[in-house]
Order: sequence, then structure tokens, then C-alpha cells
Amino acid sequence: MVKPQQSWLYCLALFLAVSCEVITGLVLDDSMMKSADYLSPEFAMKPGSVVNKFYYNIDFPKGHIGIKDFNAEVVDEAGNSVSLQDTYLHHWVVVRYYVRKGLEDKGLRSKPTLRQGPDFMVVRNTGVCKNLGQYFGLGSETRKTVTHVPDPYAIEVGNPDEVPEGFEERWLVNVHAIDTRGVVDRLGCTECRCSLYNSTIDEYGRPISPDYEGGLYCCYDQTQCKVKEGFAHSLRKLYLKYTVKWFDWNESFLPVEYEVSPCDSSTVSSNDCIDNKRISFNMPRGGYLVYGVAHQHAGGIGSALYRKDGQAICSSIPTYGQGNEVGNESGYIVGMSTCYPDPGSIKINDGETLVLESNYSSSQKHTGVMGLFYILVSEQLPRQKEISTF
Ligand SMILES: *[C@@H]1O[C@H](CO)[C@@H](O)[C@H](O)[C@H]1NC(C)=O
Ligand SMILES: *[C@@H]1O[C@H](CO)[C@@H](O)[C@H](O)[C@H]1NC(C)=O
Ligand SMILES: *[C@@H]1O[C@H](CO)[C@@H](O)[C@H](O)[C@H]1NC(C)=O
Ligand SMILES: *[C@@H]1O[C@H](CO)[C@@H](O)[C@H](O)[C@H]1NC(C)=O
Repeated sequence: MVKPQQSWLYCLALFLAVSCEVITGLVLDDSMMKSADYLSPEFAMKPGSVVNKFYYNIDFPKGHIGIKDFNAEVVDEAGNSVSLQDTYLHHWVVVRYYVRKGLEDKGLRSKPTLRQGPDFMVVRNTGVCKNLGQYFGLGSETRKTVTHVPDPYAIEVGNPDEVPEGFEERWLVNVHAIDTRGVVDRLGCTECRCSLYNSTIDEYGRPISPDYEGGLYCCYDQTQCKVKEGFAHSLRKLYLKYTVKWFDWNESFLPVEYEVSPCDSSTVSSNDCIDNKRISFNMPRGGYLVYGVAHQHAGGIGSALYRKDGQAICSSIPTYGQGNEVGNESGYIVGMSTCYPDPGSIKINDGETLVLESNYSSSQKHTGVMGLFYILVSEQLPRQKEISTF
């Protein structure tokens, strides 16, 4: 048997370190991709020093966008990358938040948890990752870590419909860095060993238990790791440089979950009350289509995959129950038609752009509907002998 590859075209939860995002299905063609480098506010470091800063309202792409990539590193005033041996990047975290319009928070340095209140809220994830508040973040491994979100996915941000009335969406970054130039014990300083920091109280003035040998309680902002006698104390201005790749949102994109607005039945005949969503996306690796089926919620009236030129590849239409017995429950989708193309008859080429269509009846409003399409693709055709064993 040739083992087919499986791929869900939509709905995927992506787990990044401690972060968790529900991301949406979409387009894309590279010409739509935008990229920009940004710098955090400057932070000054001397040998052995620690910064753990929260910078609010940092520069970020504006508007409703889909993020494809996010990465960061520490650079000096000339823009050169700074070695981890000099400045150890303990962690960085970029967080999205809503703040009441007109509130100036650019110079603030407090922890977001201390600001939580009627004028400020950290944006939480939805769906599978509900209530995890973290967005992007890594540490010293940043430079050699791939953070690209593969097609047809992207992390949707800046959707004006999601921002509460009277609020604005902004971003903050938390940078925790340790300068290890000239320190007596580089590893000890990066591991925040309390003895090297001479820390006996934490940043809130609470005593640190003698059993606690090392960790964040001992290397908070403005603590100092032990430096070799006589080491020159040169001050250095540094920045977190972060690079975002994104594309501007297009209302025709099909998110994992979406809403169907009711049509105006006074002007439109009920036959025309169809919510039709289409998106195109790239299949980096093709193969032979083995099986296809869509997933829709109540209200769904069909979904299909097409080639760019409009040629249909597979369509999947729901069957609604009409009675009361199991498997025939009235008003529910009890089955979806499937595609089993003749072996080898439908080939998807490497890099081919496909279009997914999802139709819902809009004679009434639907929320949280989905447009998923599941396909099995085989890289090779079965050999003759294997076919005969089916
Ligand atoms: C270490 O901490 C103690 C108590 O807080 C203080 O008296 C002492 O001067 C500190 N030593 C250094 C080298 O900072
Ligand atoms: C959305 O995409 C369609 C098709 O590619 C294009 O015609 C339209 O101009 C785009 N809309 C926006 C707001 O970019
Ligand atoms: C979706 O609806 C459009 C009309 O709005 C129709 O042309 C198309 O065939 C429908 N697709 C499916 C899969 O039912
Ligand atoms: C479902 O129930 C309806 C109404 O009782 C009936 O007409 C129909 O034949 C049933 N369908 C199936 C597949 O049993």
C-alpha cells in the first residue's frame, strides 16, 4: 500500500513554546507579503547588569493583518547583531493588548499584570488556546529558530471587529537580558544564581528563601551579576530588533470559524441567500488525490476544491436529516458526500494554487461556522500489483 499524506486544509492550533495561537486559513501569493524591521526602545547595559523591561505601544504593522513570521534579536547602536556571549537574551515576549483610546502609555514600564483593569487588557487567545495570553516569545535560541507560519495559515490580528468599543489595539514587548561581559561566572549569571547577584530579596522586596539557589527572583531588572575585579565598565546601548512578515487582511479570506450574516429577504429571493466564501492557497507539495471531504456546520450547503482555472477537483455536499431517528436527525448535517477519484486521475502539482469554496445558506444568521476541507494526497501511484489486492 502507498501511504497517503494527510492534510487538513484548515483549522490548526499552533503551539509555540509557551505561546498558543489559533490561526486561520488563507491565501497567499508572495507578492502580497510585507516585511519590516522594528527596534524596541533603547536599553543601556554595563558588564553584569540585568534589564527586564516592559515597553508599551511598540511599533507594529497597522491595521487588520495576517502575520506569517515574527523573529527578534539584540542589536547594538550600529545595528550589528550582539553576541550571546556579551548579552544573553534570557527571553523576550511580545504581547497584544487593548487600551482605552487616548491613554498615553508609551513611557510606562510596569508589568502588564499590574495594569489589568478597566482601561487595559491583554488580548487572550480564543478557541483551543483560550485564555493563554502570550503571543510571540523566545530566548537565546531566537536566531536559529524558524517561526514561519506555513500556508495556508496565518495569525490574524488587528481585526477592528474584535477591538472593544472605545479601545485600541497595541503591542508591548518584554525584554529580559543579562550582560555577561567580564563576569566571574558566565553560566552562573545567565542561570540567575542568587549568590552571584547577592540577591536576598525579590523585586517586590520579599525575602528569597535560602533554598532558592537561582532563577528569576534573583535576576530582576537592575540587579547586578558579579564582575571580575578591575573589568572596565563600558556602557552599551542596545535594542531588540524584531522582524514581522505579514500581509494585509482581505475580507474574502476564509477564517477557520466565521459568521454568516442573514440576507435581506425583502430584496433577495431565498434561492439567492447564499454566503459564498472562496480562498486560494498554495500546496507546497502535490500528489494524487485519494480522498476528499468537507466539514460544515448546520446551514452549510456545500464546499468544493478547484484549480486556479476553475476546474473542479472535489466537491462535498451535506445531507440533512429529516426525521427523528439516529442518523436522520432533522435539521442536522448527518453526512457529507465524499470524493474517491479514480487512482491517478487527479494530480495536484507541487506548488499548485488551489481554491477552496464554502457555501452557507444566509437565510438566517449563523455564528462560528466552519469551512474545513480534508484531503488525502498520495505522492506516488500504487503499482499494478498492489491495485489488484484492493
Ligand atoms: C550584598 O548584600 C548585602 C546585604 O544586602 C550588602 O550588605 C552587601 O554590601 C552586598 N555586597 C555587594 C558586593 O554588593
Ligand atoms: C481582496 O482580494 C481580491 C482578490 O484577490 C482583490 O480583488 C481585492 O482588491 C482585495 N481586497 C482588498 C481590500 O485588498
Ligand atoms: C456555491 O455557490 C455558488 C453560487 O453562489 C455556486 O456557483 C457554486 O457551485 C456553489 N458551490 C458548491 C460547492 O455548492
Ligand atoms: C428520515 O426521516 C424522514 C421523515 O420521517 C423520512 O422521510 C426519510 O426517509 C428518512 N431518511 C432516511 C435516510 O431514513
